[in-house]
This record gives sequence, C-alpha cells and structure tokens, in this order.
Amino acid sequence: MDAGIAKKRKLDVNENNDKGGGGSSDHTSYLHEKNENHVTLMFGLKEEVGTLARCLKLFEKYNVNLAHIESRPSKRIIGSYEFLVTCEKSSEDVDLVKAIDELHKETSYVHVLSRSHDPNATPWFPNKMQDIDEFANNILSYGSELDSDHPGFTDTVYRARRKEFADIAFHYKHGKPIPHVKYTEDEIKTWGTIFRKLTELYPTHACREFNHVFPLLVENCGFREDNIPQLQEVSEFLQDCTGFRLRPVAGLLSSRDFLAGLAFRVFHSTQYIRHGSNPMYTPEPDVCHELLGHVPLFADPRFATFSQEIGLASLGAPDEYVEKLATCYWFTVEFGLCRQQGKIKAYGAGLLSSFGELQYCLSDKPEVKSFDPVKTAEQKYPITEFQPIYFLSESFDLAKEKMRAYASTIPRPFTVRYNPYTQSVEVLNKTEQLKDLALDIRGDLNTLIDAMNKVDK
Ligand SMILES: [Fe+2]
Repeated sequence: MDAGIAKKRKLDVNENNDKGGGGSSDHTSYLHEKNENHVTLMFGLKEEVGTLARCLKLFEKYNVNLAHIESRPSKRIIGSYEFLVTCEKSSEDVDLVKAIDELHKETSYVHVLSRSHDPNATPWFPNKMQDIDEFANNILSYGSELDSDHPGFTDTVYRARRKEFADIAFHYKHGKPIPHVKYTEDEIKTWGTIFRKLTELYPTHACREFNHVFPLLVENCGFREDNIPQLQEVSEFLQDCTGFRLRPVAGLLSSRDFLAGLAFRVFHSTQYIRHGSNPMYTPEPDVCHELLGHVPLFADPRFATFSQEIGLASLGAPDEYVEKLATCYWFTVEFGLCRQQGKIKAYGAGLLSSFGELQYCLSDKPEVKSFDPVKTAEQKYPITEFQPIYFLSESFDLAKEKMRAYASTIPRPFTVRYNPYTQSVEVLNKTEQLKDLALDIRGDLNTLIDAMNKVDK
C-alpha cells in the first residue's frame, strides 16, 4: 500500500495561520526511530463541524509538513470521509509523534499506513505484540466488498453477514477475547459438508503432525461436523500448545503486515464462512480454510517455529524480499509437501482445506521440487487453480534451517530476536544485548547439561 501513493501536490499547513490546541500522551511505539521522517496516515473524520480544520491545525502546531493529501468517502463510516496524508519531518522541532497522538482524539480512527518514502530507510515493523493493533486494519479491501464473480455477490443476506464479520474484526484489539459468533444452520451445513469430505482424506493424505493434533482439536475445541469451532477457544488451545494465537482480520492484509504477525506467533484469521451455493469452492480464505487447513499445524512446535522464522525474516526487510518470503510462505505454509516414511504427505493449509487439491497434489500430475528458499522464492504461481508445482521439505526442522540461512542473506543492518517473556521483538544491535543473550544461552546450556546428567542416571 505504501509504495503506490504518488505525491500529487505539496501542501504546507504552516501557510494556515490559525493555532490549534490539545494535549499529548505517550503513543510513540509505531514510529521507528530510523524512519520517522515520513509517515503516511489515514484518518476518518468525526461527524462534527470543523473537524478537518482542527486536524490540519494539529499538523501546523507541531510543524509537520504535509507532502500529500487526498480524501475519499470512508468505507468504515458510511456518509463520512477519510483522509490519506503523507507527513514530512523537515526539522528537529517537528513532533510527528505528538501530532499523531492528538489526531487520535480528533478523529474516529487513525491508521499509520507506511512510515517512509525514503528507499534507504528501514521499513517500520512492530516491536510489541500490541503494535499489531496499529496495522491490523490497514486492509486492502473490506471483508464485505465482493468481486462480481464471487458466489455471494448477488446475495444480499450473505453480504450483510460478511459485513457483520468484518465489523467484529475491525473493532478487535489485542488482548480482548475474540467475540463468539452464532453460526446459522446453513453455515453449519456448509461447514459439515466440507468437514465430512476432508476428514475422509486426512488419515492417508495429511502429514503425521496434522493427524496427531486433529483428534485433540476434536476433543478440546469442538471440531465436529455439526459445529463450527469458535476462534477464541481455538486460539486458547494454540496458545497452550505453541504460543500461537488467532486474531480476526477484516480483509486482506499486505504481505508485510501478514508476515509481521507471524513473527509474534499471531495468525490473522477470517471468521466468516464461504457462500453455501458451492461448499467445495471458495475464492478466498474462510473459516474452513483457517480452522481445518492452518490451525492443526500451528499446534505443532516445530511447524510453529518454522512459521515464525518466516515472519521474523520479514521484519524491516526490503519490499522485494518481503515478496520473496511471501512466496516461500505460499509454497510451504499454504501448499507445502513433506516426505514421511518414504511417502509424500501434505502439510500446506491450502491443500488440507481443499478436497480436490488434496487428492491432486499427491497424484502424478503436478511437478514436485525440493524446497530451497533461494529457488522457491522466485517461483511464479497461479492463485485461482491447482498448483502445477509443489515444493517438498524433508522435515520442518530442515525447512526452518534453510529459511534461517536464507534470512541471513536479506539485506538488513540488524538481527532480530523474539522475546516471549515480553512478547516483543528485540533488535540486536548493541553489545550489552549480545552479552545478555550469551548469558541466557549459557543458562539454558547449564539447564541442558544438568538435565542430561540426571537423565543418564
Ligand atoms: Fe491460508
């Protein structure tokens, strides 16, 4: 989203002579110290007279130049307008952080879309898990906006239902429980058809790890033909297993934002179900894809670590590398194959949630190549038909090591590490941090040696 914003005209709000007012609060987490010179924001106006003037005065008050501004009807609040502005920090007396802070008070919503137009700057990334709130609604389309060839395009009831789900996700904040949804009889029927067909194939087509976890989901989370599990219960189960959690999403996220979630073991999940007219087809991810395809493997510790590796590699990576990582994600987490006891099995969610492709991928029709991030990242792929090429990993551990080696080739002036105690990403660029890390590792090694000695006895 950030790359496509053209600078149409210069608007210097210092030309406006009015003075604004307002307080300040500590809300700086989304401005990375290296690239706070340019920030692109979207904000929605409150339905009050003079709100736009007050917002512009705020920028003036903190000496923020607006390099670009455009308006459009708000997709969130019908009848209202939202504004897209690119802010410029031209001197040291500019306080962009305070300006954005106060903007929150004057507007119905503020989203920081991108943080720099400087190609040499490090792209912004979240430092703490709650920072995901800052970009989770930077969606490329709202969940109720269907294409004309979508099976539910002419179904007004289905469209209204999709808006309900999109609104739940739009108002979700980190740390809150995901609202329970009462699914309709028709929705449960659609789920039931898919559940019944797919569970016939899992014993023979899914990988060992998937088949190990699936019965636990039946026992603990209500995975049944006559019940669509609730995201909150599934998320709690995943947190117990691997620390992964689900977060509802109102629409399509950019690759950068989606992968950033994985760095924190946060998976953005849809909650709606596909249109009931054709249960075996969906043009987009739905709750069947998320729950049946993704969730079982996020409960597997090795797969969880592998997924997080892709996310961590994406933080602060240049745009072209984010796309390469998204391609690796596509060919592994979505469409990956693995070899177990001499047989090829499916572990990708796109396969495990598709009755047709799950059979096709293990037939002799597609080409199967060995997973190698350098080559896999360059592979083109179709999104509306079965994949002609799949990539095979011998194990999740091996795939993780390959991803880690690949990540080290991404041009980034720092290394990141996830700290699960603080649910934050640490940028390792200071000697003291490296010493602390070495001490942590030494502590873990002592624990390991102690445990090995006791196991031997
Ligand atoms: Fe998916």
